[in-house]
Amino acid sequence: MQLLVLLYMVIRKYYMKNKVNADAKCNFKNRSNGSDIDLSKKIEFLFDEKKTYAYKGDNLASALYASGRRVFSRSFKYHRPRGLLCVGGNCPNCLVTVNGVPNVKACEKPVEMEMVVTSQNSWPSLNTDFFSIFDKMGWLMPVGFYYKFFHTPRILWTIASKIIRRIAGLGSISNSFIDKGKYQHSNKHSDVVVIGGGPAGMSAALSAAKYGAEVTLVEKSNYLGGHLRWNRPTEINKIPELDLSITTKLVSFLSAEINKSKLIQVMNNASVFGDYENNLLGILKEKSFIKLRAKTVIFATGSHELPSTFENNDLPGIMLCSAIQKLIRLYGITPCKRAVIFGSSNFIYETALDLNDIGVENITIVDQRKSIEVDIELLDEAKARKIEILFEYTVLKGVGGSDIKGCIVAPLDDFNKSKRIACDLLAISGGFQSNFGLLQQAGFKFRFDSKLDQFIPSGEVKGVFHAGRVSGSESVELDILSGRKAAMEAVLFAGFEVPHVENRQKEIEQLIENNKETSLKEDLNLENKLKQTGKSFICYCEDVLVKDVKTAIHEGYSDIETLKRYTTVTMGPCQGEMCQNTFAKACSIATNVDVDTVGLTTRRPPLIPVPLRAIANPINLVSHATSMDRMHRKSNAYMVDIGSWQRPLHYGDPVKEALSVRNKVGIIDVSTLGKLDIQGVDSGMFLDKLYTHRYSNLKQAKIRYGILCADNGTIMDDGTVTKLNDQHYFVTTSTSGIESIEQWFKWWKVSMKQSVYITNVTSAFSAINIAGPDARNTLAKLTDIKLDTNRFPYMTSIQGKVAEIDVLLLRVGFVGEVGWEIHFPSEYGEYMWDALLSAGKEFDITPFGVEAQRILRLEKHHIIPNQDTDILSTPLNSGAEWAVKFDKDDFIGKQALVFDKNKGLDSLLVGFIMEDQKIPDDGDPVIMDGKPIGKVTSARNSPVFGKGFGLVSLPISFAKEDTPIFIRVNGENLPARVVTSPLYDPQGEKLKL
Ligand code: FES
Repeated sequence: MQLLVLLYMVIRKYYMKNKVNADAKCNFKNRSNGSDIDLSKKIEFLFDEKKTYAYKGDNLASALYASGRRVFSRSFKYHRPRGLLCVGGNCPNCLVTVNGVPNVKACEKPVEMEMVVTSQNSWPSLNTDFFSIFDKMGWLMPVGFYYKFFHTPRILWTIASKIIRRIAGLGSISNSFIDKGKYQHSNKHSDVVVIGGGPAGMSAALSAAKYGAEVTLVEKSNYLGGHLRWNRPTEINKIPELDLSITTKLVSFLSAEINKSKLIQVMNNASVFGDYENNLLGILKEKSFIKLRAKTVIFATGSHELPSTFENNDLPGIMLCSAIQKLIRLYGITPCKRAVIFGSSNFIYETALDLNDIGVENITIVDQRKSIEVDIELLDEAKARKIEILFEYTVLKGVGGSDIKGCIVAPLDDFNKSKRIACDLLAISGGFQSNFGLLQQAGFKFRFDSKLDQFIPSGEVKGVFHAGRVSGSESVELDILSGRKAAMEAVLFAGFEVPHVENRQKEIEQLIENNKETSLKEDLNLENKLKQTGKSFICYCEDVLVKDVKTAIHEGYSDIETLKRYTTVTMGPCQGEMCQNTFAKACSIATNVDVDTVGLTTRRPPLIPVPLRAIANPINLVSHATSMDRMHRKSNAYMVDIGSWQRPLHYGDPVKEALSVRNKVGIIDVSTLGKLDIQGVDSGMFLDKLYTHRYSNLKQAKIRYGILCADNGTIMDDGTVTKLNDQHYFVTTSTSGIESIEQWFKWWKVSMKQSVYITNVTSAFSAINIAGPDARNTLAKLTDIKLDTNRFPYMTSIQGKVAEIDVLLLRVGFVGEVGWEIHFPSEYGEYMWDALLSAGKEFDITPFGVEAQRILRLEKHHIIPNQDTDILSTPLNSGAEWAVKFDKDDFIGKQALVFDKNKGLDSLLVGFIMEDQKIPDDGDPVIMDGKPIGKVTSARNSPVFGKGFGLVSLPISFAKEDTPIFIRVNGENLPARVVTSPLYDPQGEKLKL
C-alpha cells in the first residue's frame, strides 16, 4: 500500500512538472511587442509545480496572466478567488511565495529562470480551495466577530485563535527556509532627493540640477517615466523650454537629459520605506539598505487608481484601467475578447481605445456621467469605432465565479431597469488617490478635495516639497511645471541661488494656473451602493465589506481610527493604498460628517514590508577588535560580537575561568568599555545633571557608580565616574552604549550651555581588569604604586606606571573580588597583556572571558543594562535606589522617579536560587497559579554553589527574601526561592580586602 502511495506521488510530481500552465484563454503565443519584454528570450519557471513560460522582462503577474491564469490568490477571510487588479504593487491580489519567500507581489517580481513560485492561503489547491466554504458562511463572521464570540469560556479563544490563524491569512514562512542573503548597508548624502521618476520627478530633478544642486532621483521600478510609460499618448500644450507636442517623446527626452547631467544620480529599483527626522530616508534597493540624508526632499510619488464599489467587485477579471494599459503597453498582452469599461472619467475612453487598437472589438463603456461631460474628441473617436456607450449608467454587480462572465448594469436613476452584459474583462476606474504615505510621515496635513475626489497635501513642512500627481495634478503639463516649481523652492531652501527668482516664480505659477484642467469625477453612485447588502468590498486585503463598515458605525465605532481597529480596514498588506479613500467616503456618508472631518488614518514607517534581515546583521557591519585581539585568538578564545566589538566569550572552559578568579587571579580584556574624558569648570555640575548620583562633591581620585536615566526615569546606561581633579572626570559606560551616551552628553552640553569638553577616548585607551585573591601580588610585581587597601582603598584611583607604562588604575569590583581596572594607551595592549600573564604565572593566572564575567557579576547581583533592564526599568525597580540622590536640585528623570517613589513600586529586580539542579534560561517566565507574573532576566549555574541562580523581575509582593516561586523551564514549573542579597560575599568584604 505504502509503495502504491509512493508511486502515485512520484508520477504526480513528474506529471505536474511537465504540465504546462496553459488554461489558456489568451494564449502565451499571442504576445506582441511590449516595451518591457524581449520576445526573443524565453524563460521557464514553476508555478504550483506546473511548468510556465515567460519572456525576459516579464514579471510573474504578466507571465501568469499571459499563460491564461486568472486566479492568482485566495482572499484573507472568505477564501474568494482573486485575480490581477492593479498590476502596480498596490493591491494584495497577486501575493505569491517565491523560492520560499512568502507574500511577494507577483506584479513587481521579475521572472527568473527556474524560479519556484507557489500560491498562498488555499487548500488543497488554488483552483479548488476547500476553505472557500467560508464565502458561504459570512453570516457566521460579522465584523469584529472575534471580539464578539469566543470569550466565554476563556479556553474557547485559545482554540479559536489557532483555527482562525490557520485558516485566514497570507503566506507562511517554512521552518526549513533559510535566506542566506545579507544586505549591504550604506549612508549617502544629497543636496536634493527627488522621490519618484515620473514626469514630475524627472522635471524636478533636471531643474534642481540646472541650479547647481546634486540630485538623487529615487525610482522604485527599473525605468523612469511613471504613468507615461503605459498611458495612452496625448498631446502636450506648449511649455517653455520643452519643444515637444506628444507625450510619447517626453520620457525619452527627459531620460536623455537626466543621463547627460553629471549632477543627477538615478537610483532605480529603490523603494523609500520611511521618512524620518531631518530628511533622513530609509531606502531598500535590492540587497541594500541605504540611509539617505538630504538637505531637502521633493516628493513626486504620483497617484494610483482606485477600484469602484459594487457587488462582487473582487471577481477575477475585474481590473483597473491602468492595469489593462500596463498589460497592453509594457507586456504586449491582449487581455480579453469582450470588455465592459466602467467609471466616470475620460480615462475609461482612453482604455477603451487602447483595447480597440489591439483588436478587441466588443467593448461597452458604462459611464456614470452625462454625454456632455465627456471629452468631445474621445467621444467621437469611440463612436467612430462603434464602441457601445451607456451614459448615466452604473455597474451594480459582477457576475461569475473564478472568472468574470459579465456584469449587471442599470441607469443611475432606476436600478430596476437593470440588464446583464456578457464580458470576460470588466475594466474599472474609481478615480485616483495621491500616494501620500511618505508625505504624511514627513508631517504634511491633508485635505479632501471634492473636485479632485481625493486627499491632497495641504500646508507646508520645512525643507520638504511635492510635485505632480501626489499634489493633485491631473495633466502632464502640470506634472512638468509643478516639478520645476518644487525644484526651485527646494534649491532655494538648500542654499543655492536662483537667478531672477521672483520673475521665475511668477512665471511658473501663471503657467500652472493656465494648465489646471477639469477634474476626474467621483463615484456618483457610492451613496446608493452603500445601501446594497451583497459582497461589495471596501478593503480587499482584509476582506471587509461596505456593509461591515456600516455595521461597525452602527455599533458605535464612528471615529476613523477606532473604526480602523475594529474593522481592520487599511490594516492589510497594502496599508490602505486601495481602500483609504473609499473608507473615508463611506464613513462620511454613513455618519453624515464631511470627508475632511472624517480624515485619514496614520501611515507610519515602514511604508512597505522590510525584511528584518535588511536592517539587522549587515554584511558590512563594522567590527572592532581590541588591541589585545591577536593574543586572544592565539589563546584559542571563542570570539563573539558584543555591540560592535569582537570579544572572547571564553578560552575553553568558562566555569574553570570563573573559579580561577574566585580562588586565584584572572585577567579580562575590558577595552570595549565606553570611555569619556570630561573636562571643564562645569564638569561636576554637568555630571550631577546627567546622572542620578552626585559627583560635584566627590573627592579627588574617588570613584562612584552612576546610572543615566532618560526623562521618564528609565535606565539608559550605567558605569563609573572617577574624579581626576576638580575640572576633570573619567567616565566609563557600557560597551554597546557609548555612541548613544556620547550623543546624549553632547546634546545636554549644548542645551545647558556649560563649559564642558567631552572627548570619546574609547579606542585611544585599552583596559584590563585583574581580579582575584592574588591580583594584588601579581600587580605588585609590575608597579611601585602601593596597592595595600589603606593606601589604595576600594573605589579610588591612582595614576602611575604599570610595566613602565603610564596607566590610570581604578580599584573597582564588578566581578566581586579585589581587583583593578588598568587603563592605558592602546598601543601597549599586547605588551600589557603579556606582562600581566608573565607576572601572574606563579599564581596560576588565567585569562577569562565574558561568560565567566557574567557568572561572577551575577553572583554579586550586579546588573547589565538592557540584559537585566528593559524599557520600563528604573533605578527604583532595579534595586538601585541607593544610587539616586533625590536631594539634588535636579537631574534627568528626577520628576518621574519622584512620582514613582511616591506611588510605590509595582515590581522589583531581585535574586533567586533554584531548589533543584535545573538552570533556567534568560527570559524564562515565573509562573504562579498558572499565570506568568515575572521573568528571569539573567540566569547561570553558580560554580561556587553548584545551583542555578540569577536575577528575576517580580511583583513587589513576591520580591521578599525566601519567597517561593516557580520558574517555567522547558515547559516544567520548577521551584526556586527569592534571595534579596548577593549570593557571593553579600557584605562586599572581599572587595575591600
Ligand atoms: S485594501 Fe489593502 S488594507 Fe484595505
